Amino acid sequence: MDVILTSEDKVIIEKLGSRLTQCEKVKTNLIPILQMIQEELKYLPPEVIKMVAKYLEIPGSEVYGVATFYNQFKFNPPGKNPIKVCLGTACHVRAGDIILENFERKLGISEGQTTEDREFSIERVACVGCCALAPVAIMGDTVHGHMAPSKVEGLILRVQVEHEKAERERQKIESDRQ
Ligand code: FES
Repeated sequence: MDVILTSEDKVIIEKLGSRLTQCEKVKTNLIPILQMIQEELKYLPPEVIKMVAKYLEIPGSEVYGVATFYNQFKFNPPGKNPIKVCLGTACHVRAGDIILENFERKLGISEGQTTEDREFSIERVACVGCCALAPVAIMGDTVHGHMAPSKVEGLILRVQVEHEKAERERQKIESDRQ
């Protein structure tokens, strides 16, 4: 799924473009530059890979190759509600993979991707340290233990309902102001 840059992303990338010119144009700066961008933008879209390649005068494939080597770099924007599904051994043997598949199916994205509205992203993670609660999924900051594939839809719905409620309240405040 191609990531569509938001207007906010575009503004950040433009600023990063100017910050880039303050970095010495040497290949050894590639990782620090990618780290600086990741910190600001939270991910590395293709536009940024091209921008860095052009600045350092190296092929884009080289920038991409280095970035994919380190798992600190992300290529999709984080969702407002990041979902982490544990696939450590204890969770895996209790159908963690089916839970992951259910999240993927309900949201129409694969693990490592973000929904178009940037509300959700899915990531598989190794043991998160609460095996007694296996299988485990983490949504935002909340740990959901003893997960079941059948609970997936409810969790997504709950977030969507809360989001709609917050949006309605925001609109009401705005219309009251006018
Ligand atoms: S394996 Fe999932 S919490 Fe340990």
